[in-house]
Order: sequence, then structure tokens, then C-alpha cells
Amino acid sequence: MALLDVRNLSVSVEDQEILHDISLEINKGETHVLMGPNGAGKSTLGYALMGNPNYRINEGEIYFNGLSIKDESADKRAKAGMFLSFQNPLEVPGISLASFIRNAIVRQTGQKVKYSEFKRNLKESMELLSFDESYKDRDLNVGFSGGEKKKAEILQLLMLNPRLAILDETDSGLDVDAVRTVSKGIEAFQEKRDGALLIITHSTRILESLHVDKTHVLVKGRMVRTGDASLVDEINQNGFEQFIEGSAAE
Ligand SMILES: Nc1ncnc2c1ncn2[C@@H]1O[C@H](COP(=O)(O)OP(=O)(O)OP(=O)(O)O)[C@@H](O)[C@H]1O
Ligand SMILES: [Mg+2]
Repeated sequence: MALLDVRNLSVSVEDQEILHDISLEINKGETHVLMGPNGAGKSTLGYALMGNPNYRINEGEIYFNGLSIKDESADKRAKAGMFLSFQNPLEVPGISLASFIRNAIVRQTGQKVKYSEFKRNLKESMELLSFDESYKDRDLNVGFSGGEKKKAEILQLLMLNPRLAILDETDSGLDVDAVRTVSKGIEAFQEKRDGALLIITHSTRILESLHVDKTHVLVKGRMVRTGDASLVDEINQNGFEQFIEGSAAE
């Protein structure tokens, strides 16, 4: 049984259908990459999978761990072990990075988290991400640089340990060193929990040190091709043009 099983999903935003007939299966421990031109619907797919109420599912099904979650709230999906790192993380004044993460853990597990243990894990994960410890007391993302916001997303990933993480362009806008650091964080996630990943990206740098099981190409709201890791290189050489023509001919 696949961990995530998306079947013939169509999704609308503001009464306009953005995603058409999307199917996708991700097994436990697998890493999938989702590529596609700007505006193809990649972030839309992330939001729809996570249960953002602005995205309406017209047709199809989403099974997570064998259960249909299509009608569940975003909160329930997070509790079930789904995680989305945002392309543009929100600033949240009044709540520190550390409290935000701790609350999220408590909400999702329904269990109390020992403070000493939490503190130790947080310190370890921040070190792994070369994230200065002082940031834990800063308001979540407020005044963080673009790169720091992305690191904060990966920190949440490491602390929450979801079964499936959807990373929406977590690597965009990162300098060379930060890409390596974030990639190290993702690798640690893969090893720690055998978690599954759906990585939405335009760049291959983040993928260099990661094992990729499958690559999907989304164009104009349709999955036009699925292949192995080599598809990433092919796209980088030839662009999306081939797929755009292909989809028009269909
Ligand atoms: N809330 C919304 N209101 C109106 N249109 C929307 C909304 N969300 C998405 N869209 C439209 O849906 C299409 C797909 O957008 P989406 O953000 O999913 O693309 P993307 O593949 O993530 O692109 P990028 O690579 O630029 O991040 C776009 O044409 C966008 O304008
Ligand atoms: Mg996007």
C-alpha cells in the first residue's frame, strides 16, 4: 500500500480548475521530485494535498496511509503525518520559533513534550542546519532573510518528523553553502524516520546529494511525464518545451 495515493485529482481555485486528473503514488521512504514551469500548479498541488480550504477538490481521491483524507481538515492531515514547507513562509509576530515548533509537536502528537528533551533536539537540529541558536527566541520568520526562512522550514521538518514532507522550493534563493546545509537537513530527515518526500524544485543543486526515486513533470495542471532521477538532468538540458508541445498535441 502506498503512503500517499492520489487518484485522478482535479482541483479548482476561485472556480477555475488548475489541476486536471492528477495521479501520484509515493511509498514510504521514497523521494519524489516535482518539476514544471512557473504557474504549472505545483504549489497548488501542495496546498490541495495539505487541505488548504481555498483549493477545492472537484474530482478524485487522496489516500494517506490507506485512508481517504480528501474531506479532512488541514489539522487532521498534519496529525496524520503530512507536512508542507511553504514556498513563501509566513511571518508570525508574537510567537517565537521555538514555541511555534513545540506547539506544533504537541498539537500533532497529542502528547506532552518534555522540555529538556525538546531543547536538546532543537539545539541538535539547529546545529545541523548551521542556524544560530539565538534564532529560537526570535518571532517566527519575522525579519528573517529569505534563506533563514527556508532554514526555519527545514528545522520544523526535522523536529516534527512527518511521514510525508512536501517541500515547496525550499532551495530557492539559497546561497551555495545554505543549499548544502538544507540538503544535509533533508538527508537527515530521510535517514531518521524513513520519511517520504515530495520535493518541488526548479534547481538540481538540492538534489545532488539526495537519492531520488522518481521525477514527475507537471505542465498546465497535468502530469505529462514520470521518470527516474535522470529526468531531472534531461529537463535541465532541454527545458520544458518538449513537454509543452507534447501536452498541446494530446
Ligand atoms: N489563490 C489563487 N487565486 C487565483 N489564482 C491562483 C491561486 N492559487 C493559484 N492560482 C493560479 O494557479 C496557477 C498555478 O499556480 P501555482 O502557484 O500552483 O504554480 P507553481 O507551479 O507553483 O508555479 P511556481 O513555479 O511559479 O511556483 C497559476 O496560474 C496561479 O495564478
Ligand atoms: Mg509554486
